[in-house]
Amino acid sequence: MGHYAAITGWGMAVPQRVVTNNDLAAIMDTSDEWIRTRTGIVERRVVSDGECTSTLAVQAGHRALACARIAPEQIDLVILATCTPDRIFPATASRVQADLNIPNAGAFDLNAACSGFVYGLNVATSMIRSGASQSVLLIGVDIFTHLLNWNDRNTSVLFGDGAGAVVLQQCEQPRGLLACKLGSWGQGEQLMVAKAGGTCQPLTAELIEQGQHFVAMNGREIYKHAVREMSDSALYVIDASGLTIADINLVVPHQANLRIIEGTARRLGIPLERVFVNLDRYGNTSAASVPIAICEAAEQGRLHTNDHVLLTAFGGGLTWASAVIRWGQLPETEPYAYK
Ligand code: ACO
Repeated sequence: MGHYAAITGWGMAVPQRVVTNNDLAAIMDTSDEWIRTRTGIVERRVVSDGECTSTLAVQAGHRALACARIAPEQIDLVILATCTPDRIFPATASRVQADLNIPNAGAFDLNAACSGFVYGLNVATSMIRSGASQSVLLIGVDIFTHLLNWNDRNTSVLFGDGAGAVVLQQCEQPRGLLACKLGSWGQGEQLMVAKAGGTCQPLTAELIEQGQHFVAMNGREIYKHAVREMSDSALYVIDASGLTIADINLVVPHQANLRIIEGTARRLGIPLERVFVNLDRYGNTSAASVPIAICEAAEQGRLHTNDHVLLTAFGGGLTWASAVIRWGQLPETEPYAYK
């Protein structure tokens, strides 16, 4: 039985439609200057009619399978991290499994908001390490713009849509997840919440009229929790991996706000040159943000075999998660022409 779960493939997908800060300034009381200086965001991608969560997830998943050169038949588990599923019921993971023609896999959704991908990485790795799975497709995807009230400038300037996916495979070499720390503080639920639409407050015409199905957020409180929990859990996993800050080659943080990323890096004592940032082009893509950043870091040649990469994320719930991974594909991977 292999003792590790290597990341052997990765892929991402974002909608074609670009919405700039100036586009938003044309429809609400905000400005490019305010959004750039408070968040670091310049533009984001937003879905068009007909694009749903599974659309983006399937595109990203397809690319990850091709990158890993693995046949769909070999995937035995599909985990879809999302808080914006196609439908409340059934799980979007099953739709994705069907559309990717993956015949021999279990499939389930996982909701830990923006921390969902790192949560999923822990679950996928545990399944592989236990021997219950051999090859897992893990996708982080959100169409968070569907939860936004475009009249609320406190939230609507922050988010974008997207998907990122990885393939994890059993491996003898020490690669993939070395240590992980998951956290939750449900007492903070009301700091970021879409109140209506679930079983507590089923949708009614009145609730929709009041906009209770949209996300409301206490930005300042979230900000404080995010910096503290991301940096504390990051320090924990670096220590649990037997490493020090100096051993971390790259930090791939959840892309919520540049000031949160800078504050976290400062608390960790890691220079910004070793922190990957792409939120200027995508905004906060929720569960997709970490895997999209992994894809772009790999594309830009910023990830090398045996590099130690720190992932850290924070989201609604409240939830947070940090992980240290050792980068590297399987050297023995057979070429596979994915159709
Ligand atoms: N444009 C212009 N002005 C704005 C905007 C806007 N888009 N939004 C708020 N303002 C105004 C406020 O009304 C306020 O005005 P006032 O002083 O007259 O009352 C002023 O700007 C300052 O508002 P603050 O909320 O204090 O601004 P702050 O500097 O805290 O920045 C922000 C707000 C960007 C939301 C920040 O708090 C933040 O990033 N928090 C974290 C949010 C986050 O990342 N959430 C996602 C978590 S991940 C997940 O689960 C999906």
